[in-house]
Amino acid sequence: VKKVAILTSGGDSPGMNAGVRAFVKTALYHHIEAFGIRNGYDGLIQGDIQPMGYDEVANIIQQGGTILGSSRSEEFRTQAGRAKAYQQLESRGIDALVVIGGDGSFKGAEILATEFPALKVIVLPGTIDNDIAGTDYTIGYDTALNTIIDAVDKIRDTANSHHRVFFIEVMGRDTGFLALHSALAAGADDVLIPETHTNLEEVANTIKTQYKGKRSAIIIVAEGDDAGGSGDVVAKMKSLLPKHELRSTVLGHMQRGGKPSYFDRYLATALGAESVLQLLKGNNRIFIGYQDNKIVVHSIADIIDKKREISAEANTLLKHMYNQH
Ligand code: F6P
Repeated sequence: VKKVAILTSGGDSPGMNAGVRAFVKTALYHHIEAFGIRNGYDGLIQGDIQPMGYDEVANIIQQGGTILGSSRSEEFRTQAGRAKAYQQLESRGIDALVVIGGDGSFKGAEILATEFPALKVIVLPGTIDNDIAGTDYTIGYDTALNTIIDAVDKIRDTANSHHRVFFIEVMGRDTGFLALHSALAAGADDVLIPETHTNLEEVANTIKTQYKGKRSAIIIVAEGDDAGGSGDVVAKMKSLLPKHELRSTVLGHMQRGGKPSYFDRYLATALGAESVLQLLKGNNRIFIGYQDNKIVVHSIADIIDKKREISAEANTLLKHMYNQH
């Protein structure tokens, strides 16, 4: 490989910049030209591609978001869009593409690689949701969890003062990893996640029986829960808890922002650098993740469309802390 390019795609996540930086620095170390593509696949289709040197990646490791910009591209879903995207790379002599993103971005990358076999493609997990198979952690998940527990701690102050029950909605799309792990670490009284069926009568009983003398309660609600978002849940809970004062808070996009944590910077640096090393080894159509404290490589085809399971350890905690099976 002589010229390599990187883009960030889908929902941004803290640590993406550290991944871009490590990719560029590792490429330059090996005397490979590095390019940055702006705004994900949309920017690739439009040819919004710039050479990246040391200056372009200076002072970005601590910044949240992605300096390259991101998109959820509709055009890249079409064959014509992908053909334009490939043309943009081919005309510049770029022979490899690295994508930091989530499952949807990986599917796009895999199709592009199948349609244009001359192009080498590597994907890295970047999403706050941690909903990717083949890795224990995604870039941004740890920071988002810390952002959530910080917000929950603050809400707890006012919940305590007013003796209220707060239902706090967190992101995660159709998965409950952010919800469950933030609930455990913030000491929430209950957690509602899509992986287990939610019975609101049981939730009301938990609050009535276990927290009688307690000044407040915190319930974390995953946005994809089958009982609905925190607003819906509060509306339904009113008749079940007529004596309690209920409130709903949606944390929203604040969960995606902020300075990346140590772990996300380290993970992104390790994966970003490894992507170049894998290209030098001649590998193609691979996903690089982190399992059991080691960098691991899987074929992209093996990890897309796989529903990630809650770990056995987290399931044990779900049972003993929240009586959910
Ligand atoms: O995948 C990351 C994520 O933040 C999800 O948790 C959430 O459901 C979604 O993206 C929100 O997307 P958007 O920023 O397009 O509203």
